Amino acid sequence: MNFSDSEIVASILSEVGYSPTRDMEQAHLILINTCSIREKAEETVRKRLQLFNALKNRNPDMMIGVLGCMAERLKSKFLEEEKLVDMVVGPDAYRDLPNLLSVVEDGDKGINVFLSKEETYADIAPVRLNSNGVTAFISIMRGCDNMCSFCVVPFTRGRERSRDPYSIVAEARDLFDHGYREVTLLGQNVDSYKWEDPDSGRKVNFAHLLERVAGIDPNLRVRFSTSHPKDITDEVLHTIANFENICNYIHLPVQSGSSRILKMMNRTYDREWYMERVEAIRTIIPDCAVSSDIITGFCTETEEDHQETLSMMAWADYSMSYMFYYSERPGTLAARKYEDDVSEEIKKRRLNEVIRLQNHLSLEHNKRDIGKTFKVLIEGNSKKSDDEWKGRNSQNKMIVFPKVGNHQPGDYVYVKITEATSATLLGHPV
Ligand code: 5AD
Ligand code: SF4
Repeated sequence: MNFSDSEIVASILSEVGYSPTRDMEQAHLILINTCSIREKAEETVRKRLQLFNALKNRNPDMMIGVLGCMAERLKSKFLEEEKLVDMVVGPDAYRDLPNLLSVVEDGDKGINVFLSKEETYADIAPVRLNSNGVTAFISIMRGCDNMCSFCVVPFTRGRERSRDPYSIVAEARDLFDHGYREVTLLGQNVDSYKWEDPDSGRKVNFAHLLERVAGIDPNLRVRFSTSHPKDITDEVLHTIANFENICNYIHLPVQSGSSRILKMMNRTYDREWYMERVEAIRTIIPDCAVSSDIITGFCTETEEDHQETLSMMAWADYSMSYMFYYSERPGTLAARKYEDDVSEEIKKRRLNEVIRLQNHLSLEHNKRDIGKTFKVLIEGNSKKSDDEWKGRNSQNKMIVFPKVGNHQPGDYVYVKITEATSATLLGHPV
């Protein structure tokens, strides 16, 4: 989500003559795009800002700004108290950047943290940063209307709003025409995507949107993230099953395996509901990989609750998980309502157990792929060697294989798997 914001900002700034540089010393403007989902982020941002300020001492014309989620909460700290930045710009105020830059050039501080109910940046064509030329992200909605009690997103990024489908399809088609072969549709909760045509009154839901993007070309792969267990519909699952180019991979964060904890997290589903949704995935899309987000040590979590998380992971057979221990975020429902009463030692011990189990599940998952042949989209050279390609299969697994034949990034190749680690599959083109 954040990365996609940086690409929108780069586009807005390119309109007023800015272009990206990799050399910090050369920069006239340095912007940090921030996220406040987890605790350490704030300290990391402060350290970076101190480093940039050292550069500014040598180059007083340089401007420094903070963008994104932290803007609202840290605006007075960074701007006035610590005087670390010239500019603070919230996630819905990027269009104001050119104006804020002239405010700063006139010697004032630039600030806009206004959250909008409408802004989707639909008409802005993102400038692709750090692109491999093959895969790209497309933001389809902003904000979030769920109120998971641990989460700051509804406060930092505002109300949920969907971007108009025509601009999404146009962006995907343009990427395809420029050689891209995979798009990932991004939203905090893609299953609640909804848009109504102001003229015809026709409604577009996420299944329809997927169908439209997948219809651009059979050689354009479509991925999406994140799915919410309470909202993912059979209609979406059937759409995935009906299109070869919609990938068989669903990121479906469970957060906890305990119904009691899920209720306190305000996730609005319980263990049984979640299991029913995973069963629907298995029935409708038999070779779909499922991955998850997991939080250990949420308020009041007992050893039994934790065991339920472990048993859920094994039952759901996640191919991969993003795993965290709970950190209380100021302003959230949990911070206001519940005591953060699980000790750091226990949170971390449980997290280690979760990580150990996931490593085991990922390895077993990958070992079952040995001997199978997958269609792989080449993304570029492997990390270790220029003699090998890396790419992904439909299930989002990274596959590394030797360069034989005359292939390029963006080509599809069939690869037979010969070896597996918990993170990567190794194979040979067939
Ligand atoms: N503590 C720990 N993990 C969190 N996440 C969100 N907020 C918190 C928090 N306060 C995790 C959730 C979410 C992912 C993006 O980050 O698992 O799905
Ligand atoms: Fe946060 Fe929940 Fe919204 Fe995800 S769905 S962004 S966890 S409030």
